[in-house]
Amino acid sequence: MTDAIVVEGAHKTYGRKKALNGLDLRVERGTVHGVLGPNGAGKTTAVRMLATLLRPDAGRVEVAGHDVRRSPDEVRRRIGLLGQHAAVDEELSGRQNLDMFARLHHIGARHARVRADELLERFGLADTGRKAVKKYSGGMRRRLDLAASLVTDPEVLFLDEPTTGL
Ligand SMILES: Nc1ncnc2c1ncn2[C@@H]1O[C@H](COP(=O)(O)OP(=O)(O)OP(=O)(O)O)[C@@H](O)[C@H]1O
Ligand SMILES: [Mg+2]
Repeated sequence: MTDAIVVEGAHKTYGRKKALNGLDLRVERGTVHGVLGPNGAGKTTAVRMLATLLRPDAGRVEVAGHDVRRSPDEVRRRIGLLGQHAAVDEELSGRQNLDMFARLHHIGARHARVRADELLERFGLADTGRKAVKKYSGGMRRRLDLAASLVTDPEVLFLDEPTTGL
């Protein structure tokens, strides 16, 4: 079986700022791998590159057996992402957010509703699922964001500072 993540000599530059300078990383399937580093070390850059939101300038970068540059759609189908900053819609309720994420991933309406219910329950949001997210506390938003990253039951899950506010 292929590794979950294979990175060899990855480089990423923003203008003249070198954010990643030859990153190597290998993560086996079925494992949890933490990356630590000071502010500005390039952790978010690495996560965004692995999640196909940023293109590496050079190097080998594969996620779930697919190259992020050559086959970004294949990678996107297999991953979940919890970004450093919330990705949920303020105007929608928690339930509507989860439903929207599911529909964006082409999950059918009925299955989407069931999945939203399961996740609201699992993250302790069953009672507030119908409230608009702008009325949520910071920690509640973060829990909803986490739930959204799990909507598709992804093969590889990226969590950028997942404990913030929890
Ligand atoms: N969009 C951007 N444009 C220019 N420079 C950027 C951009 N995003 C990040 N950088 C720079 O790239 C470097 C790495 O930033 P990154 O956000 O990856 O760090 P990080 O390890 O996630 O930090 P933190 O612990 O603060 O979240 C920093 O020097 C940052 O200033
Ligand atoms: Mg960061």
